[in-house]
Amino acid sequence: LIEAVGAREILDSRGNPTVEVEVLLDDGIVQRAAVPSGASTGAFEAYELRDGDKARYGGKGVLKAVDAVIDELGPAIEGFEASEQRVIDEVLKETDGTSNKGRVGANAILGVSLAVAKAAADAADLPLFRYIGGPNAHVLPVPLLNVINGGAHADTGVDMQEFFLVPLGAETYSDALRWGTETYHVLKNELKAGGYATGLGDEGGFAPDLPSNRGALDFLMAAIEKAGFKPGVDIAVGLDVASTEFYADGAYSFEGKKLSADELIEYYAQLVNDYPLVSIEDGLAEDDWEGWKALTDTLGAKVQLVGDDLFVTNPQRLADGIKKGVGNSLLVKVNQIGTLTETLDAVSLAQRSGYTAMLSHRSGETEDTTIADLAVATNAGQIKSGAPARSDRVAKYNQLLRIEEELGEGAVFAGRSAFPRFSA
Ligand code: PGA
Ligand code: ZN
Repeated sequence: LIEAVGAREILDSRGNPTVEVEVLLDDGIVQRAAVPSGASTGAFEAYELRDGDKARYGGKGVLKAVDAVIDELGPAIEGFEASEQRVIDEVLKETDGTSNKGRVGANAILGVSLAVAKAAADAADLPLFRYIGGPNAHVLPVPLLNVINGGAHADTGVDMQEFFLVPLGAETYSDALRWGTETYHVLKNELKAGGYATGLGDEGGFAPDLPSNRGALDFLMAAIEKAGFKPGVDIAVGLDVASTEFYADGAYSFEGKKLSADELIEYYAQLVNDYPLVSIEDGLAEDDWEGWKALTDTLGAKVQLVGDDLFVTNPQRLADGIKKGVGNSLLVKVNQIGTLTETLDAVSLAQRSGYTAMLSHRSGETEDTTIADLAVATNAGQIKSGAPARSDRVAKYNQLLRIEEELGEGAVFAGRSAFPRFSA
């Protein structure tokens, strides 16, 4: 039984305050969860409550959310069985009482929701992935390693936000992680040799001021080969364009030009021809449904089209997209929707509808590794947690190494099967 719920303000990987929640059960079990935070956030995400008190952390404090946990959310679920996740998440939503969790904040609600799940797993004496996923949780995800950071995550002229190495040809998760990491180190040398800066962006990838977006892909290809891997066979590549960030008044400001959705789709079609590209995230903006439909009709059979700002892990927005035939993959961010239950609902809707699902960190992260367990719990087959550098990013990849070890013979690496539309 849940005996008490506590909360505090801690720091995330960008030095911004965030919420940490602790749940105490009557048998003495204590578990905690910390909440991540985005930079290129979608307009349709659940509401992240910040204090707005300029005298503390430039207004970014989260003491109101912390108080909401202690004064309202905690008391509302005290005495509940921790394993009643669905009921508890419903009570949390009702306590807030708004449709976007805007009164007490999705950051307050999510912290409680995740800490409850961890406490229940501990009480059942199960690892989190096993508690949430049950006996069939066994698929280790392909890591999409974001090794070049642009867009809102770096102060450079690179429009696209994330360039991934996708080591889908490995036999095991640990080999995939090693392949990607070796290539990351080679990439650093290649960038240096080319005269580019190798400082890191928010997600641990390099943030070179490259002349074009294709230039970043060319560096990835060179690094893959130089590291001794076959592009497309051992290691493919992926993109998060995060195009909502450069969309205004019906036009995309890209590489110094104003492009229509059709022109951008034509550009992506060329990229799909020229590179072993398995995944394009947010290729078009969060409210450009017409463009998204054309993008899906043009490229959806060949490449994974991931909706991040478009779907915001919201089962209703996803259902809408599925009905319209828009996109073919769901990006899964727990804080976009704000409860574990709704997150799992979104993933299972995607999976029942022939959409793939990719678990995701935020650009502002903590040492919390819940998303690694969720990736295995849902057998989603894909995770993005930044570069293989910086503890906030690597914590998730390391947790997957532990899960792989725990599963032993029972572990299956998703590999190429995670990308059913890709053939190269
Ligand atoms: P964000 O970036 O956490 O800043 O939103 C990650 C992403 O766009 O996928
Ligand atoms: Zn994104």
